[in-house]
Amino acid sequence: MNNGLKGQSHHVADIKMFPTFVRSLPDGSENGEFLALDLGGTNFRVLLVRLQGHEIDIQSKTYLIPQRIMLGTGTQLFDHIADCIGKFVSEHDLLNHSLPLGFTFSFPCQQEGLAKARLSKWTKGFRCEGVVGEDICELLQEALKRRTNCKVEIVAVVNDAVGTLMSAAHVDRNCEIGLILGTGCNACYMEYLDNVGTWKHDDEKDHHPRQVIINTEWGAFGDNGCLEFTRTEYDRELDTFSINPGKQVMEKMISGMYMGEIVRLVLERLANEGLLFRSVDHESALFERGRFYTKYVSEIESDTDEFFRHTKQVLDELQVENYTTEDCKIVKYVCTLISARAAFLAAAGLATLINRLNKQDMTIAVDGSLYRFHPRFHNLMCLKIKELVKPGLKFKLSLSHDGSGKGAALTAAVSLRLRSLKPL
Ligand code: GLC
Repeated sequence: MNNGLKGQSHHVADIKMFPTFVRSLPDGSENGEFLALDLGGTNFRVLLVRLQGHEIDIQSKTYLIPQRIMLGTGTQLFDHIADCIGKFVSEHDLLNHSLPLGFTFSFPCQQEGLAKARLSKWTKGFRCEGVVGEDICELLQEALKRRTNCKVEIVAVVNDAVGTLMSAAHVDRNCEIGLILGTGCNACYMEYLDNVGTWKHDDEKDHHPRQVIINTEWGAFGDNGCLEFTRTEYDRELDTFSINPGKQVMEKMISGMYMGEIVRLVLERLANEGLLFRSVDHESALFERGRFYTKYVSEIESDTDEFFRHTKQVLDELQVENYTTEDCKIVKYVCTLISARAAFLAAAGLATLINRLNKQDMTIAVDGSLYRFHPRFHNLMCLKIKELVKPGLKFKLSLSHDGSGKGAALTAAVSLRLRSLKPL
C-alpha cells in the first residue's frame, strides 16, 4: 500500500492506491435531482436520485449489457449506455431538466479531476477496445451528445467502493472504509494527503480538509507473484482460462465472479479421480466452465441439516445423477473451504486498513452480492479481523444498500455544493 501511495514506486506497485478527488464526505445538507449510472457489476443501472438532506428517493432501471458489447469496442459500449440513458430520461419525462450525473464506474482509473478519469485497465468481464488510457467521462459525454438530446452533465465519476463509503458516511460519521464483495473485490478509505505522494493537485486556497479517498484496487494484490505461496492448482487453472491471465490475483481468490468456478474445478477433479459421484456423466454441466455459479456456494452452505435440500437442488440443476448423502457432504465441505479462504483474505486486507487508520471505532461499509447472500461471510470475516487488528480497536461491518447509486449521486451533490463555495 505504501508503494502505491509513493510517487517513486507507484508505477511498479501492485496495489495502485489511486487518489480519487473525493475530499469531503457528505454532511446531510445535499439537495437536488441527479442521475446516477452504475457500470461494472453484473447489471448496468440508470438511477434518478432525489436528495433532500437525509431523505433520498430513488427510481432506477436495470439494463442488460450483452457480452458482445462487454468484449466489443468502446464506442459500442458508450453508445449503448447513452441509448439507455436517453430512454430512461424520456420515460421519466425529464427531457427538459438539466441533470447533473454521477457515474459509478467500477474499474481502476487514474483520476485527473472529479469528472476526469482515465481507465488504467479493464477488470472482471469487460475488455472493450480503445478505452484504456482514455477519459471515460469524455467518452460518455460525447456518446450522449451523439445519441441523445438530453441535458445531462457528468459532474463526478466514482468507483463502487467509493460510492459505498460515501453513501454510508452520509449516516455514520465513523465510516471511513468502503468494501465491495461482489463480482469483483476492492476497498477504499480516507487517507491524509501528507501520506499521498502521488497527489499533485494542491490548491492553496482550497477549503477541503487535508485528506482524500484512496481507491486501493487491492484486487491486483499478488499480480507480482507475492501470493504464489498460497495459490493452488485450481487458482492457476482458473487464471489461465480467464480473459485477463496473470491479473487480479487476489480478486480471483475472493470475488463472486470466480468463487463458483474454483469450487467447480475442485469438484471436477474429485469426480475424475473417482472420489465423488461414483458414476458421472461427462455431459453434466459440472464439467462446463462457468456453469457453477457463486450463488450456488451460498445456497449449498445454507443447508444446515442432513437433508441437503439446496445442495440437491444445485446438483439436480447441473444434471448430476445418482449422488449420495456422502457426496452432498463433500460438495458442501468444498464450498465451506473456498468461501472461508475468500473471507479470510478479504479480512486480512481490511485488518491492514483498520490498523493503518488506527481509530477507536471504525465502521466499514460493505456492499456486493457475495457479502449480501453468503450465509457465513460476515461472521467469518469478523472472526479473522478480530485476530488481526491491534488490541483495543473496535470495528463494525455494516451492509450498505445501493451504495453505488446513492453514492454517485451524493458525490455529485457534494461537488456541486463545493463548486458554489469556490471563490471566483
Ligand atoms: C474490480 C475493479 C474495481 C471494483 C471492484 C468491485 O476489482 O477493478 O474497480 O471496485 O472490481 O466491483
